[in-house]
Amino acid sequence: MGKVFFSVGMSLDGFIAPEGMDLAHADDPNYKDWLSQWMELQKWVMGQQFFRENLKLGEGGETGQDNRILEETFQRTGTSIMGKRMFEGGERYWPEEAPFHTPVFVLTHEVRSPWERPGGTTFYFVTNGIESALQQAREVAYGKDIRIAGGANAILQYLNAGLVDEFSIALAPVFFGKGIRLFGGIVRRKVALEIVEVIHSPLVTHLHYAVIKQYQTPGGRRLARSPRRRCFSFRLNSYRGGFMGKVISEISMSLDGFITGPNVRVGNGMGDDGDRLHDWRFDAKTETDAAILDEIYASNGAVVIGKRMFDVGFEPWGDPPPFGMPVFIVTHEAREPLPMQGGTTYTFVTDGIEAALELARAAAGDKNVLIQGGANIIRQYLKAGLLDELQIHLIPILLGGGVRLFEDLDPEGIELRRASSIETPGATHLRFSVVK
Ligand SMILES: NC(=O)c1ccc[n+]([C@@H]2O[C@H](COP(=O)([O-])OP(=O)(O)OC[C@H]3O[C@@H](n4cnc5c(N)ncnc54)[C@H](OP(=O)(O)O)[C@@H]3O)[C@@H](O)[C@H]2O)c1
Repeated sequence: MGKVFFSVGMSLDGFIAPEGMDLAHADDPNYKDWLSQWMELQKWVMGQQFFRENLKLGEGGETGQDNRILEETFQRTGTSIMGKRMFEGGERYWPEEAPFHTPVFVLTHEVRSPWERPGGTTFYFVTNGIESALQQAREVAYGKDIRIAGGANAILQYLNAGLVDEFSIALAPVFFGKGIRLFGGIVRRKVALEIVEVIHSPLVTHLHYAVIKQYQTPGGRRLARSPRRRCFSFRLNSYRGGFMGKVISEISMSLDGFITGPNVRVGNGMGDDGDRLHDWRFDAKTETDAAILDEIYASNGAVVIGKRMFDVGFEPWGDPPPFGMPVFIVTHEAREPLPMQGGTTYTFVTDGIEAALELARAAAGDKNVLIQGGANIIRQYLKAGLLDELQIHLIPILLGGGVRLFEDLDPEGIELRRASSIETPGATHLRFSVVK
């Protein structure tokens, strides 16, 4: 039986479409600049030969790895299912020969006769729910896979219903700030994931995940290994070198964008299920993860954190704290420095992020300064143009709530470039340089 999958592009802050990209503004690409934002997300697709041919944009185009990915996705698809909003957008812009060349089932409340297009695409309008659409799709897929084409709402319904087998995300190093989130409304603990494969392209990182069907409680975390797991290569050299004296942030983020689970408070500093974000550092640490951590700590000479991170972390970190170097806490609360054992002194800085960075630079000497979180602090340094590098350990879990790393980030003036990525079973370690 064919698999049920989806394959979408997503911004680093979790959106699959920018604000303003809707029917009402379809003819007004300047509205919220939606078209240029969309093009940023889709840049990797536009020049590919397969895409150009399929949308009748002309001959030529690139024929490398990205082209192969697009073509394979098309070839495996026996039929697609999409939401009515995605259909309406496409109805307007697809060429007469719509680019599917298979039956397509549209989830809608509106009864409508099938709409047949030249080239083998027929749209069927399904008014009795996602399971019926899937059943009808299976009947005509002839053993091939069924693609949930989008949008986010349709994908979310199939994910929450446990009907998706696997998915791919082309993660682009862009921020939208606002728009349609891929995982907005995901039910925590319903969907467990496993990294199957990560492919690095010049413009995006292709992330492939399998959905594990028997989800276990967070207590029983060791989930069954997928037989399709690839052998993860050890490519630390691409991670190393040449970043002494830089300002770096490093943080673990769930695939739906959270750095904690819900209900953060003193005594539950990572929120409900949030400790799973750090499994790669502890229980599930591989040799590669360990080497990445060693590298981070060896290259840094001082740490800057936010007051909320300090408040929830102080007790569990204990004495000596795990930093082993000076830590500067950005806060509104003036307080005497707090010397701890093992080389850590907590210094409280009340005159802003730049002052904290200046002190940290002086303490770090020729080593890096690590902006270690939380989200609020990292966003401020990123927005102020003070970060040289952003390291995100992308964890294959969906938390459904908590502290969001890129909440309401105004993307104006922020440009990232993919530097490297390393995959381990527990995390995809992504490194971006910030373009100055
Ligand atoms: N997943 C991970 O890898 C990871 C890593 C680090 C942290 N975390 C989690 O992140 C959570 C905290 O993140 P968060 O975003 O909520 O908070 P945060 O960034 O740790 O701290 C924000 C707080 O710092 C102070 N502050 C920030 N900017 C300031 C400024 N310019 N001047 C003066 N004070 C300023 C303010 O506190 P005051 O007004 O009280 O001073 C502000 O409320 C914690 O639960 C922690 O466990 C997760």
